[in-house]
Amino acid sequence: MEDLNILAIETSCDETAAAVVRNGREVVSQALYTQIEIHKEYGGVVPEIASRNHVKKLPHVVEAAVRGAGGFERIDAVGVTNGPGLVGALLTGVSYAKGLAYTLEKPLVPVHHIAGHICANYVSHPELKPPFLCLVASGGHTQIVWAENYTEYETLGRTRDDAAGEAIDKVARVLGLPYPGGPNLQELAKRGDKTKYKFPHSFRGEDHLDFSFSGLKTAVINLLHKFGQQGQEYKKEDVAASFLKNVADTLVKNTFEAARRMDARALAVAGGVSANEQIRAAFEKKAKETGTALYFPEPKYCTDNAVMIASCAYYEFRKGRRAGLDLNAQPVMEL
Ligand code: KG4
Ligand code: ZN
Repeated sequence: MEDLNILAIETSCDETAAAVVRNGREVVSQALYTQIEIHKEYGGVVPEIASRNHVKKLPHVVEAAVRGAGGFERIDAVGVTNGPGLVGALLTGVSYAKGLAYTLEKPLVPVHHIAGHICANYVSHPELKPPFLCLVASGGHTQIVWAENYTEYETLGRTRDDAAGEAIDKVARVLGLPYPGGPNLQELAKRGDKTKYKFPHSFRGEDHLDFSFSGLKTAVINLLHKFGQQGQEYKKEDVAASFLKNVADTLVKNTFEAARRMDARALAVAGGVSANEQIRAAFEKKAKETGTALYFPEPKYCTDNAVMIASCAYYEFRKGRRAGLDLNAQPVMEL
């Protein structure tokens, strides 16, 4: 088969990213502009500001990725995240990708953001092939997915309220940590006692594979409120460690139960939350106990990036997936 270089664009949230990936697995070039410093001031992502900055940075980010790949003539197709995500943010990437595909006279391939997160594992693990089970845990989503092949997925369980990353960011915020909460909470938790506080586990003992993180989040907020009212001394490190242990236990429990039910030989974890060291350790421990092959993307491909989108676009392209110039941003989109 001939080599295929796909240029992909990702703008579903606050990362402006472009990358060129060869044959779905080999990173040729990449460029990423993170808006973290901008949104930090507001304690979270401000959608309008995110869109405006995508518009400003996209030309430079795409140019850098294309230059790194040796020029536009090396590009065989254009992939783009068209959902789910922030509608204004998605629109900037979709519009840009449509313009590029039209001018270059190359096919346009739409990519589902969650499928992209799953495909990050193909870049980090050349030997990984479907079928496998994948937990995708990010700021916007937490779902257990059966990857039947490179383009077909079945969702076996999902969060009924907050995404894991959303709860993590909120708890980090009430502990006074700056945005983005996840990495900061991870560092704080390293110095804490994870057995110090017992927070409730939602849905324990039920037979579905769904998640719920809002009760846990509220339990942490209530505890901190109580400490505040009583003027009680506590260590933020212990709260962070106990909370993260609870999140990790819940993610591990449902994911390994799904793996058991599906008789999965391989298990992957993806999405921003899968960069978390404590959560990775909890999965590694359970994988060892159960003899399951476990895969994580490299940390830089756990959080939003365009490499994963280019990988996914490759497999969609091979399957014959194409979009016309009527491609639209879809803030909500089933996998
Ligand atoms: O996948 P992602 O970059 O964006 C979405 O698609 O949502 O995920 C972002 C989420 C945020 O909630 C962020 O706090 C969390 O992933 N995150 C982490 C870590 N790195 C990112 N959470 C815990 N520990 C980390 N090291
Ligand atoms: Zn994401």
